[in-house]
Amino acid sequence: MVEFTAADLAVEDQYKLMSGAIIPRPIALTVTLGSDGPNAAPFSFFNCIGVSPPMFMIACSPKTGPKSGGSSGEVKDTIANLRHHPEMVVHIVDYELRNRMNACALDYDSGVNELEIAGFNIAPSKLVTPPRITDCRVALESKLIDIHEMGDLPYYVIFGEVVHFHMDDDVVNDRLHVDPGALDALGRMAGNGGYTKITDKFTMPFLHPPGSAPPEEAVAKAQEIAKTDRSG
Ligand SMILES: Cc1cc2nc3c(=O)[nH]c(=O)nc-3n(C[C@H](O)[C@H](O)[C@H](O)COP(=O)(O)O)c2cc1C
Repeated sequence: MVEFTAADLAVEDQYKLMSGAIIPRPIALTVTLGSDGPNAAPFSFFNCIGVSPPMFMIACSPKTGPKSGGSSGEVKDTIANLRHHPEMVVHIVDYELRNRMNACALDYDSGVNELEIAGFNIAPSKLVTPPRITDCRVALESKLIDIHEMGDLPYYVIFGEVVHFHMDDDVVNDRLHVDPGALDALGRMAGNGGYTKITDKFTMPFLHPPGSAPPEEAVAKAQEIAKTDRSG
């Protein structure tokens, strides 16, 4: 095993290890509204953080990016827009939309409408003002909870609350189970151009329902099965 103390690493090396090891990451194609109109940008430092209400986080580096080692204090358009208008629509990106998503990631001047450049179709949202992309199989109309500045660069961590869900008919069933095959969500890996598709789904049973201490038999079963893994 090689080891690194984070404080000894250059910013770009921290980025390589974080974005290379914490994979795959979902991609939030995020539409916000600026004074010149809508803006769209993909973010993979993104995840669900809880329900009641449904909440997520997205982390934005400064405009100069995480590899610059220092910030000019300029923020990306997504952050500037959210400060001005605290609503957004987050879309889950699937394989068939990968190139259009990628077209939204260029460092355009603020005021450039990435949705037009990428050729996305849009429709008015129901509970928020930014439009939603109708090509995406999942669109999450959301309100900003807060933006936390964290770290030395700093990172701007967006906390959002989903207020309205748009789910493609093929993606969700009557019991609100989402079909990962139909969603075909794209995963972000490290480096230039690293992505993955979710094609190797497998299942593992809950050995004991969550919410209460497991009985001895469940622990014994868990240990027996754990031994079949590598180094077990
Ligand atoms: C797949 C993908 C994932 C990205 N993830 C992030 C991210 O998590 N955080 C970030 O700051 N930039 C990320 N970027 C870069 C932004 O999309 C890019 O800086 C974009 O121009 C920001 O747009 P804006 O200035 O309109 O907000 C990502 C780019 C791609 C293609």
